[in-house]
Amino acid sequence: MPNQTLLVLSGPNLNLLGERQPEVYGSETLADHVAVVEAAAAEHGLDVEHLQSNHEGELVDAIHAARGRCAAIVVNPGAFTHYAWAIHDALAAFEGPIIEVHLSNPAAREPWRHTSVVAPVASGTIAGLGADGYRLAVQAVATLLGR
Ligand code: DQA
Repeated sequence: MPNQTLLVLSGPNLNLLGERQPEVYGSETLADHVAVVEAAAAEHGLDVEHLQSNHEGELVDAIHAARGRCAAIVVNPGAFTHYAWAIHDALAAFEGPIIEVHLSNPAAREPWRHTSVVAPVASGTIAGLGADGYRLAVQAVATLLGR
């Protein structure tokens, strides 16, 4: 049986979604987004594992543990997006599709958000579409996995 687990990773401060700058990130909580991912993934026969961490190394460990075990990764690295080369390197060692998701559109915000060190190792990026981004990310994963 091929790998059927989708790993969803959420970076720093995303545990505060719902309370944190709702005008930028929306009123949904992280649990709401994970529920959307689980429902969309189930339609494609994918199980979901989710980890939120405020610690770069913990996310790196989770990416390593996904190698050979998970089919794909959906990752919103939060502010790590913009400078966490260890996450870039860990994702580069993952063999399956990787979709980078941002609730806001970093390209339309402060200049320091315009660089993503994750984008070069992602299959694709979905940004600026709010909660819909997670549903679209699962759709992209399913397409890339041929499910
Ligand atoms: C974010 C965008 C990042 O710039 C920011 O640091 C976040 C959230 C987003 O989902 O829009 O924490 O990744």
